[in-house]
Amino acid sequence: MKILLTGGAGYIGSHTAVELLNSGHEVIIADNYSNSKPEIIDKIREITGKRIKAYEADCCEYNQMKQLLSNEKIDAVIHFAGYKAVGESVEKPLKYYRNNLDSAITMIELIKEFNITNFVFSSSATVYGDSAPPCDETMNTGCTNPYGWTKYMIEQIVRDVSVAWPEFSGVLLRYFNPIGAHKSGLIGEKNNGIPNNLMPYITKVASGELEKLSVFGCDYPTPDGTGVRDYIHVVDLAKGHVKAIEYAADNKGAEVINLGTGRGYSVLEIIKAFEKVNEININYKIVERRPGDIAEMCADARKAKRVLDWEAKESLEDMCKDSWRWEQNC
Ligand SMILES: NC(=O)c1ccc[n+]([C@@H]2O[C@H](COP(=O)([O-])OP(=O)(O)OC[C@H]3O[C@@H](n4cnc5c(N)ncnc54)[C@H](O)[C@@H]3O)[C@@H](O)[C@H]2O)c1
Repeated sequence: MKILLTGGAGYIGSHTAVELLNSGHEVIIADNYSNSKPEIIDKIREITGKRIKAYEADCCEYNQMKQLLSNEKIDAVIHFAGYKAVGESVEKPLKYYRNNLDSAITMIELIKEFNITNFVFSSSATVYGDSAPPCDETMNTGCTNPYGWTKYMIEQIVRDVSVAWPEFSGVLLRYFNPIGAHKSGLIGEKNNGIPNNLMPYITKVASGELEKLSVFGCDYPTPDGTGVRDYIHVVDLAKGHVKAIEYAADNKGAEVINLGTGRGYSVLEIIKAFEKVNEININYKIVERRPGDIAEMCADARKAKRVLDWEAKESLEDMCKDSWRWEQNC
């Protein structure tokens, strides 16, 4: 298939481009580089040795995207483009609603116009709000921040479109916590400023760029009292997209699928694993709980196995090793 990746120069998109190319698909990237760099395209070429075409384009711009779709005969679209910082979305909700909703609606309008029936959307476990883990796809959803609501709303748009357009196939992938990087060390998560997430923070403390990691709370009802999350290696996540887009090509309707490992790790477990595999001490201190954090978030990953024949393979050690390699290279 010839697959358009919107936001394909970003963290998850670039890893997915590599896996799609390695699986024999053709990849076209459209990105406005608001949170990535054009150099990433060369890195994808370097890793795969394959041809890849990239457009600097904004998915909110109907005419730009229409031109792209007129130039290329696209079979499927994976829509990664969007903003993703939860904290920023609380401060600047309209920026998030404008970019995330506009880009998704524009892309869905256009795929309808061009009769491209296969669509995969980057949703998030954040739509489970504070539901008790493990979260399965039938659980009630609801969000606690504007970023999450954009995912929730786009999921609903895709479901509504699938009712009105019977040939359409939309897979809504709810990602848990992607970490790690490609083993080449050539692509990974862009880190600017002070990271919000645990692993990029750990790697910056390891490199000496940040002095100390704050562990928010040690009195949660979890085995060691620190928060538990379902971390998934970004390469496993990328492989899940290959399965999802192939599934979309053979099916119709809207399908929600979790991409997680089904296994949670606490903050302290992650720190210890990182220290052990990389032989580096991480300077951390335990501080008060952070408002809005929940004790535990973990996927029920059985549907992905059943429907997509996909499951995460990489270990926590791989995630720690690959994150550190990327930090040293980037
Ligand atoms: N990384 C995570 O932890 C995580 C978890 C759940 C869901 N997601 C979702 O997955 C998707 C990809 O996440 P990521 O971590 O790769 O983020 P990222 O910021 O690295 O990648 C997003 C890409 O989209 C581009 N972009 C943004 N708005 C655009 C627009 N209007 N037109 C064209 N390009 C645009 C950015 O330049 C960037 O390259 C996002 O939708 C994100 O919300 C990410």
